[in-house]
Amino acid sequence: MEYVEIQGERVAKIGLGTWNMRGQACYRATLSALELGYRHIDTAEMYGNESEVGRAIADSGVDRSELFLVTKVSGSHLSHSGVLQAAESSLQRLSLQSIDLYLVHWPNDRIPIEGTMAGMNELVENGKVRRIGVSNFSVRQLEQAEAYARIFANQIEYYIGHPQESMLQYCQENGILLTAYSPLNRGHVGRNQALEATADAHGVTAAQVALRWLIQQENVVAIPKSEHPGRQRENLDVFGFELSSDQIAQLASAHR
Ligand SMILES: NC(=O)c1ccc[n+]([C@@H]2O[C@H](COP(=O)([O-])OP(=O)(O)OC[C@H]3O[C@@H](n4cnc5c(N)ncnc54)[C@H](OP(=O)(O)O)[C@@H]3O)[C@@H](O)[C@H]2O)c1
Repeated sequence: MEYVEIQGERVAKIGLGTWNMRGQACYRATLSALELGYRHIDTAEMYGNESEVGRAIADSGVDRSELFLVTKVSGSHLSHSGVLQAAESSLQRLSLQSIDLYLVHWPNDRIPIEGTMAGMNELVENGKVRRIGVSNFSVRQLEQAEAYARIFANQIEYYIGHPQESMLQYCQENGILLTAYSPLNRGHVGRNQALEATADAHGVTAAQVALRWLIQQENVVAIPKSEHPGRQRENLDVFGFELSSDQIAQLASAHR
């Protein structure tokens, strides 16, 4: 595993996404990922699977200090007290004492960000949350949040063919983690000649090239979702090859 270092914290470059996984399927998938060596797990109160994720963490025997657990507060719970209550409920479902990274799932212009971030800061002061982040925020919204709290990450949709140049530059210049969600374009990572030629040249799969393309960029980590141990292993096995800068540029332009 390789890590990105942000604000003095190490984050595994590949994490497990858990959206759309429920019940026993989610429990089994999270457990198998932890057994394979995943140490960064992404969930959300909205996914309805925090209990299963928590149970898998407990049963895996993985030391809590090795794990980077991310969850998210829904857009409807963004008042000061709403954030506090939502975090408490997530902690109970997860059976954990603290959340490593707590994200505002979506911006909500109807609720002042000042109150949301006051709640987030209080959670950090109380030791319930270690790092504060946001998701689906624009640069302008990120700057507004930063006026009230130290923002660790922005989780956004990012894959080859869905560029995020201005956000990437902003995160790199300001020491913020960019977590790429839907890094495989929900399983439809574009099949094209450049991708296949690059995969063949390295003896890897197109999905592995797509993930490598992301995590070779400064400050970027990716959270592919798979409920199949074989694909989980494939998605984690992206540290044994390197894309050249030409290949990175060709892949970006071929998908434009
Ligand atoms: N913050 C947000 O608003 C937000 C929004 C969307 C997603 N997310 C997070 O990001 C995570 C990942 O995004 P995502 O689930 O939308 O999409 P994704 O990770 O890009 O793609 C997942 C899909 O690709 C398939 N897949 C996984 N590995 C593969 C491989 N090696 N080869 C071929 N197909 C593969 C999976 O199928 P199998 O499971 O059958 O393998 C699944 O159908 C989510 O699970 C969630 O945690 C966050």
